[in-house]
Amino acid sequence: MSLLLTGIAELTTNDPAHADGHADPGDALLGIVRDAALVVSDEGVIEWVGAAGRAPDADERHDLGGRAVIPGFVDSHSHLVFAGDRSAEFAARMTGTPYDGGGIAVSVAATRAASDHELRRLVARRVAEMRAQGTTTVEIKSGYGLTLEDELRSLQVAREVTPHTTFLGAHVVPPEYASDRAAYVDLVIGPMLQAVVADGPTALAESIDVFCEPHSAHAFDGDESRTVLEAGRAAGLALRVHGNQLGHGPGVQLACELGARSVDHCTFLSDDDVDALVAAHGTTVATLLPGVEFSTRSPYPDARRLVDAGVDVALASDCNPGTCYSSSIPFAIALAVREMSLTPAEALHAATAVSARSLGLDRRVAPGQPAELAVLDAPTHLHLAYRAGVPIVRALDLPTA
Ligand code: NIG
Ligand code: FE
Repeated sequence: MSLLLTGIAELTTNDPAHADGHADPGDALLGIVRDAALVVSDEGVIEWVGAAGRAPDADERHDLGGRAVIPGFVDSHSHLVFAGDRSAEFAARMTGTPYDGGGIAVSVAATRAASDHELRRLVARRVAEMRAQGTTTVEIKSGYGLTLEDELRSLQVAREVTPHTTFLGAHVVPPEYASDRAAYVDLVIGPMLQAVVADGPTALAESIDVFCEPHSAHAFDGDESRTVLEAGRAAGLALRVHGNQLGHGPGVQLACELGARSVDHCTFLSDDDVDALVAAHGTTVATLLPGVEFSTRSPYPDARRLVDAGVDVALASDCNPGTCYSSSIPFAIALAVREMSLTPAEALHAATAVSARSLGLDRRVAPGQPAELAVLDAPTHLHLAYRAGVPIVRALDLPTA
């Protein structure tokens, strides 16, 4: 059984095969096909992509009625495994209290106290919320357990909903280790890491991450971060880094030097940081999280400069209880366009093709690829930012699936 999808006013393929013949650079970047059709197998694999007028026959047809279709968003940075509520911390920030990472301990206490069943229920609800907004692939970090047992169960709960899990034992130093930071780093790189990779290097976590932030008393400095990342790499994990979020620091350069797949936030960058990211093109992606700047009243990163310099720029939500409790990639895209001067096409590319690459994935809409798609109640991708705040995009549930 195969399904022919028609009535696609505009299809974003992210496929260079469809880049030619466009006057508009954004259309070329996105590999746009207008008045398009798609054939999908009943295993959910794309079999054919092209102009509707040339579409082959299929067993069934489904007319999307003149909507735009895009690759499902790849949210390559989220912290969905947490319990508790920090809305009062957000409200205080809006009236001037700065963010320093101290509130993470509140989520850690609530997460440790939650049952497995409760954590599962919370994660499932957040993943469904993402899918309802067009996200079909999500990366999920641990980091609100910070004991061996609670980090493991956070990863287990995350692994039930995505293969893209990240061990973030080095999120902050938990309160019980405040007077002995080195002992906590030893726990992360010793017993915790051993347990994470016990059933094989990627059985429970695909990557390791660290909150490298000398401006927070709770997070890790450059040397501690290097120790964590080198141990993770030796254990067979891919590397991701929270870097340069609260001020200038060593995170970006460390990530580039160690060949991390991504360095995330990049809010405060020096010229040398930008040079390092340019040199790391093809290896290390700069993942921008503008929902964080929105929710912490921080300046937005200079996305325009990064893209113009040739850096691989991804967009993700960072959905977490502290710095951004928004799971919405359309919101991140609207901020990237309005506040960071990316074009709508660059922002969409960043939230699909580039974020996918940072997880080692290919998200072209092309034969042989999984049909992980999203559909817009709108004729073009421009509406993602143009109709900010309006729920026009959702993951496409295939009728045969
Ligand atoms: O990505 N920066 C560190 N971690 C999260 C925030 C965690 C929290 O405040 O709960 C982030 O912004
Ligand atoms: Fe984060």
